[in-house]
Amino acid sequence: MRIDIISVAPNLLDSPFNHSIIKRAQNKNLVQIFLHDLRDYGLGNYKQIDDTQFGGGAGMVLMIAPIANCIDKLKSERKYDEIIYMTPDAKTLNQSTANNLSLKENILILTGHYKGIDQRIRDKYITKEISIGDYVLTGGELAAAVLVDAVIRLIPGVIGDEQSALTDSYQDNLLSPPVYTRPAEFEGMKVPEILLTGNFPKIEDWRQEQAYKRTKEIRPDLLENE
Ligand code: ADE
Repeated sequence: MRIDIISVAPNLLDSPFNHSIIKRAQNKNLVQIFLHDLRDYGLGNYKQIDDTQFGGGAGMVLMIAPIANCIDKLKSERKYDEIIYMTPDAKTLNQSTANNLSLKENILILTGHYKGIDQRIRDKYITKEISIGDYVLTGGELAAAVLVDAVIRLIPGVIGDEQSALTDSYQDNLLSPPVYTRPAEFEGMKVPEILLTGNFPKIEDWRQEQAYKRTKEIRPDLLENE
């Protein structure tokens, strides 16, 4: 998979992609990530990329031409399965969207800043808009990092124990059950007996029960969607 990200602050994305599992995935060539600085497509001597809003109002808007020029160039080089705009005014990212995107070959992600981008870019180029939650960040870069992380870990071969991606929270619309490791007792706190029995079918039943109980208590809305 290849992921291109357009940003006015690409440096913000150096660190999240250069460590641990995401870095290893790139080293193994399971994914390639390319960052593009929107400023390189800015207009005139000052490389202008933003301007005031038509109709008045606080906040600058990213101009249409620099973004269009950047997207057109990238599109001339390959076909994108999705062109995604990260924005708080969109549907919230969930596991199903991440699963779906992990099957794609080429994804282009546009991150906004300031008051957002000229609506005509959204109308003409964007095939999917994604928010990572009902709050506003200073820009879409961290949101893009969240999306990319959620997608990359689902690519086969990225996580060693593939079973572990399949049994994540949300993979079946349930939160994860509690997990424990050694020691079996710490300062009087004991690991649930069932986990020490070696009876794996029973353990699986217990985990399902716990996952359901936790979901009902913390996120009952997830059960309503079934
Ligand atoms: N840009 C700013 N806030 C955002 C959010 N919550 N999700 C996605 N992109 C954003």
